[in-house]
Amino acid sequence: ANITVSNHGGNSSSPLMYGIMFEDINHSGDGGIYAELIQNRAFQGSTEFPSTIDPWEAVGNAKLTLQNTTVPLSWALPTSVQVAPGNNFASGGSIGLQNPGWWGISVTPQPYSGSFWALGSYHGKFTAKLQSAKSSHVWASVEIKSKCQKGEWVEHKFHLNPRVAAPDTDNIFVLEFQPDQGSLNFNLISLFPPTYKNSPNGNRPGLMAGLKDLNPSFLRMPGGNNIEGDIFGYRWKWNETIGPLSQRPGRPGTWGYANTDGIGLVEYLQWCEDLDAEPILAVWSGVYLNGYDNDNPYDIPEEEIGLYVQEAMDELEFILGDVHTKFGALRASLGHPRPWKLNYVEIGNEDNISSPLSYASYRFKAFYDAIHAAYPSIVIISSTGDLKAIADNSATDYHEYARPNIFATQFGLFDNANRSHPILIGEYATIEPNTENPLEPVSWDAGEPRLPYPNWVGAVAETIFTLGAERNADIVIGASYAPGFQNINGSQWAPDLVSFSADPAKDVYSTSYYAIQLLSAHRYTHTAPFTSDEGFGPAFYVAGVNHGTNQYTFKATVYNTTSPVPFNIDFEGLHQGAKATLTVLNAPSGLSENVPNGENVVKRTTTSLTAQKGGVFSFQLKEYDIAVLTTF
Ligand code: AHR
Repeated sequence: ANITVSNHGGNSSSPLMYGIMFEDINHSGDGGIYAELIQNRAFQGSTEFPSTIDPWEAVGNAKLTLQNTTVPLSWALPTSVQVAPGNNFASGGSIGLQNPGWWGISVTPQPYSGSFWALGSYHGKFTAKLQSAKSSHVWASVEIKSKCQKGEWVEHKFHLNPRVAAPDTDNIFVLEFQPDQGSLNFNLISLFPPTYKNSPNGNRPGLMAGLKDLNPSFLRMPGGNNIEGDIFGYRWKWNETIGPLSQRPGRPGTWGYANTDGIGLVEYLQWCEDLDAEPILAVWSGVYLNGYDNDNPYDIPEEEIGLYVQEAMDELEFILGDVHTKFGALRASLGHPRPWKLNYVEIGNEDNISSPLSYASYRFKAFYDAIHAAYPSIVIISSTGDLKAIADNSATDYHEYARPNIFATQFGLFDNANRSHPILIGEYATIEPNTENPLEPVSWDAGEPRLPYPNWVGAVAETIFTLGAERNADIVIGASYAPGFQNINGSQWAPDLVSFSADPAKDVYSTSYYAIQLLSAHRYTHTAPFTSDEGFGPAFYVAGVNHGTNQYTFKATVYNTTSPVPFNIDFEGLHQGAKATLTVLNAPSGLSENVPNGENVVKRTTTSLTAQKGGVFSFQLKEYDIAVLTTF
């Protein structure tokens, strides 16, 4: 293609073009990026009563019983475990409980910070240990003098400092005592390795660094389906995710496991600050996915919706209100006198699927009217999922899960979108492979095989789709792949952008991750109009320029061709001898994927180019190349 690119006349480009979406799915939060090592630390969020004891096990001759004691640790954490001497307990011995972590615990020479609460009388010492599950070899152990007081919950803190790294993650955490005065109850038993930026109650450093390397401009949270709740009362409640962990009851998440809410609203906003990303906050929109009884969605009736609108308004006041407001003062009391910034609020998630009629007739409007009146500058996003927002002055959240061939047809999807309704692409991913029918839509049948991990042809097709978004970045706010994370031992949805296990050395960044990383690293202030002597396909491309300069970015990808595509690009204002860098990603085949314990299949080459006669840069791209050319 012979292309002439102009440095003026384009549209201004969204500064948020590439972002991330996070919800607790696939143990992406609990058992995932949240660094807590103890699984089921406070017996929360279960649909069983009083809760579930899994995966705790007795140590020594202990008998473990879940109890709701007369004196609870807190209103939020009423259930604790009683550890009592079992029938064959020999006096003088130790009893306790052990926890396998989230499918293992990584033990390396670094400080681990732990704590637990105990109820009962005890004058002796506790022992906390990290040990091998197989050999019982102890990697680290510490004695903690009891501070127990009869009838009161007392917190104990400790540190574990392994001297060597365990060879694998098949390790357990053990807490023991010598029951001189009978049983004790325990709750909120917690152990953290060092976290990202050493934040208390923080995140896994490697996974956060992986997010940071994506250069994300926004964080869409806290769902996805997980904000919605399966049945009545199970919604994500912002005010139950803040404050000390003892004040967070947790909830039954939407993805089949309990959520501790250890990552709560404040933690999400802290991520935004840490990642320098704009929050796109979803508020609950008045629908439970499976109703009262796991059947149909349950919509809050119109006459009751005001209660939940108020809940959202309180949340916004908590985030934005000054310290003289009720919820601004609450924020300040938690150590954040300064309001956060919040410019985008989404009403619900995929309401076009869960319950479109009530959304269109009263739910969206009720939230919209209240939020818009109080915060007129906030961009309100409807979760209609299509390209039509349902109120003036609002944006819409478009989701797409597709096969590569379908994404490859969508370069022009946003070209004719209504310019008065901005579009967030809040979720997208290639989830199933191509079939013989080139335009076969994705199948949602449970039996239809998903890609276990993103593959390269999927990444290329997604790139065609997001380049289409880039050239419409006057109206597209930005795009985020979903889901972001999976723990490979506890996953409900494949494929995912990043896969991980208990071993931080084995984080897997997918093919799609590397494609997005390259595209996101190169931004520009304005699209740069161009003319070309060839239409799009097999090559798809977009050009951008930093306004007022001749610094250009040209992004391209090539899909389904056997012959390489030559490019001769003439950038306005650049002359013979001008310099550029061409970065190209590709993989051995379209089906290449990054898998646990495998090598990164994505190969990156960087070449310096010099403009030839007439200021033209010439290069070739072959099938499945994803390329970025930057001039300087
Ligand atoms: O990303 C996984 C799920 O897909 C999200 O929770 C939901 O919004 C969508 O259906």
